[in-house]
Amino acid sequence: MSEETTTPPHNSKLFIETVGCQMNMLDSELVVGALRQRGYELTKDVRAADTVLFNTCSVREHAEHKIYSALGRLKFSKRRRPNLVIGVMGCMAQKDQELIFQKAPHVDIVVGTGQLAEIPSLIETARADRDQTLAVSLGRRDGNRQTVASSFESYDPLREPEMRPTPYQAFVRIMIGCDKFCTYCVVPMTRGPEQSRSPREIAREVEVLAEQGVKEVTLLGQTVNSYRHTEDGQLVRLSDLLERIHDTAGIERIKFVTNYPKDMTTDLLEAIRDLPKCSHYLHVPLQSGCDDVLKTMKRGYTVADYSDMMDRINSIVPGCSVSSDFIVGHPGESEESFEKSLDSIRKWRFKNSFIFKYSPRPGTKADTLYEDDIPEDEKRRRNNVMLDLQNAISEEDNAEFIGREVEILVEGLSKSAVKAGEQNSTDPRAQLVGRTRCDRIVVFEGNRRLAGSMARVAVDDCTATTLIGHVVTREYQHNPTSGLPILQ
Ligand code: SAH
Ligand code: SF4
Ligand code: F3S
Repeated sequence: MSEETTTPPHNSKLFIETVGCQMNMLDSELVVGALRQRGYELTKDVRAADTVLFNTCSVREHAEHKIYSALGRLKFSKRRRPNLVIGVMGCMAQKDQELIFQKAPHVDIVVGTGQLAEIPSLIETARADRDQTLAVSLGRRDGNRQTVASSFESYDPLREPEMRPTPYQAFVRIMIGCDKFCTYCVVPMTRGPEQSRSPREIAREVEVLAEQGVKEVTLLGQTVNSYRHTEDGQLVRLSDLLERIHDTAGIERIKFVTNYPKDMTTDLLEAIRDLPKCSHYLHVPLQSGCDDVLKTMKRGYTVADYSDMMDRINSIVPGCSVSSDFIVGHPGESEESFEKSLDSIRKWRFKNSFIFKYSPRPGTKADTLYEDDIPEDEKRRRNNVMLDLQNAISEEDNAEFIGREVEILVEGLSKSAVKAGEQNSTDPRAQLVGRTRCDRIVVFEGNRRLAGSMARVAVDDCTATTLIGHVVTREYQHNPTSGLPILQ
């Protein structure tokens, strides 16, 4: 990091908008932390800011449109306030590069996913000399694997506790990039080659987070279960990494996203079974329930392979919940193929599914090879039909919890309590939210001091997304050696 080269702290006001996945949320947290250390103050009002950053996503066209429209709206602000520095960072920066300056000439800096450490100095230089700067990594065909990989630098500085979105939860990056090259997907281009971070660094980061009060860590990677790192001549897999960080004092729960079906190995499932802090929840996108479509997507597995994986999950970790992603309207997806995706939801009863309409992405194989042959209206119809089915199944399965007690990690105030401005209320009681070990969201009335602790909640009602309940016992703690809960 180039701390010495940046100018000393000043009272700059920073506005940042973040779209995309958890990886982007983590990147924004880290960049904001680095800028705060240099004297920047966060503002929610873009008009009050003299530094505006967009952390962008390219996975679907819609996400890019959103950013280009927001940039368009800033054109006049920049004329009025020439001191304003506008930066575009993240996946769209890596993908569109110079095109961003062409479409939005008032942008000062374009910074790819592999150059995040440079942002503070790039902002200062832009403010001082007004030149436009592009800082991006190499394209996937611009050199051998090693050269391209080293042009994507993982950004994992030590962070400030107050910068985390919530005090008890934190993301921890364990991998960057992706080498799966699904035909529809831009991520291998925008995030570069798959690279696993050193287990020693990850374990250290988890320790620091635990010392700062974090109870739940979510390990991040595009295909997180493909994690492999050789340290001191020994291969470390995700299962080994979980074992290594499991006994970190203070950590109550460990999650990891997103999983790739082909890499759901038995050693990993056994680790989830044997390590009590591991969440019994796996996000493993199926994408389509039809083998022909999976083949055009180049996902590398068949529906039968996925079925074998589900059988292994259910036999090794009974009760484990599974969620999925689906793309509807992928090139060549016939009505029959779509029905097969619906059948897969009926068969595997996913806890929830994220459903996306296929969006052709320039530079991907699918965009070059296949015609985007499903009309937008039909994509929308399939999206709605699938969503209705998934919601009905989620609600039916959530209803099974009514009348039962669940143990949850309390995260803090519920979304509606935050919306109602209850953060500043002096009433000790509030609507709280937490999650079960199988990642079901639970909302209940309770003392706000429960935030960050384990609690037992009886479930009275539910919706498709949420269990609604009341606290049974006040507090739970885990015995640090056995990992078993102790009633207080
Ligand atoms: N690494 C994760 C997902 C990354 S992108 C994985 O492999 O599962 C998140 C989701 O966006 C994908 O699972 C896919 O369902 C969806 N997606 C990716 N590219 C898309 C495209 N071109 N159009 C529509 N949805 C897409
Ligand atoms: Fe994209 Fe496929 Fe990699 Fe996921 S596994 S990020 S969908 S290329
Ligand atoms: Fe989007 Fe990049 Fe994440 S394209 S989904 S922000 S890895």
